[in-house]
Amino acid sequence: MHSNRILQVESITKDYGTGDHKTTALKGISFDVLEGEFLGIMGASGSGKTTLLNCIATMTKPTSGNIMLNHQNISSFKGGALADYRGKEIGYLFQEFELLDNLTARENIILPLSLHGMTGKQGEQKLRELANHFDIVSVLNKFPSQMSGGQKQRVAAARALIGDPSIVLADEPTGALDSKNARILMDKLSAIHKEQHKTIIMVTHDANVASFCSRILFIQDGCLFHELRRNIRTETTDNFYERIVTVVAQLGGGSANVL
Ligand SMILES: Nc1ncnc2c1ncn2[C@@H]1O[C@H](COP(=O)(O)OP(=O)(O)O)[C@@H](O)[C@H]1O
Ligand SMILES: [Mg+2]
Repeated sequence: MHSNRILQVESITKDYGTGDHKTTALKGISFDVLEGEFLGIMGASGSGKTTLLNCIATMTKPTSGNIMLNHQNISSFKGGALADYRGKEIGYLFQEFELLDNLTARENIILPLSLHGMTGKQGEQKLRELANHFDIVSVLNKFPSQMSGGQKQRVAAARALIGDPSIVLADEPTGALDSKNARILMDKLSAIHKEQHKTIIMVTHDANVASFCSRILFIQDGCLFHELRRNIRTETTDNFYERIVTVVAQLGGGSANVL
């Protein structure tokens, strides 16, 4: 299958603060993502993973460099156009779910559609499909306080996907889940990736979770450190997991020159 470059990250840097308080979170990162890729991002705490994801999500503005999504420079959007663009093109999955407590699961899921005036029959159909896929039909009329962590994250996943975004960004989506619920979420997300060729970029600490990806970028101190690509046809997740663990061990030791 021929794949388009859906995302181009070009020499991104990001400084927080100024003078003595300046932290350089990203030091010039470039990579492309093909349509339909499931890209993992790994790296120690503080290495810049969330900053990178938030730059792609248009929630943080890079200090320099360009990000192109569907060949459009995302920094060219401002104000209402930016909010509109973000809402339609990007689905975001947070570590702590970020559901609204006073809305039911159903209301949380369709909120992105309501905000863009896109509810109606098509939205209802999509809601039913996603609720079935993520096994959350039984909680649709419940509030977040009445759901388990696993259910909350699957509701959040349905919310991220309901607007059919070009790209789904997930920041440690299994970070608040036990290993059983992490596995369930990953099975369901990876089915969306395989069946709908949805492009997903996911930050994770967990090599098990990362082994579902088709490619992984490793970040250290705001720079790209290494890249692993899984041979989807011939390589098992177990084998890919072993290769991921090897790189993570090297990252942990901070020995950037061993690879
Ligand atoms: N809003 C902020 N203000 C100042 N420094 C920040 C801010 N967000 C992140 N940083 C700093 O930028 C660096 C990268 O952070 P982050 O992107 O959150 O890394 P990660 O997600 O890999 O843990 C860290 O040194 C962090 O302290
Ligand atoms: Mg982070």
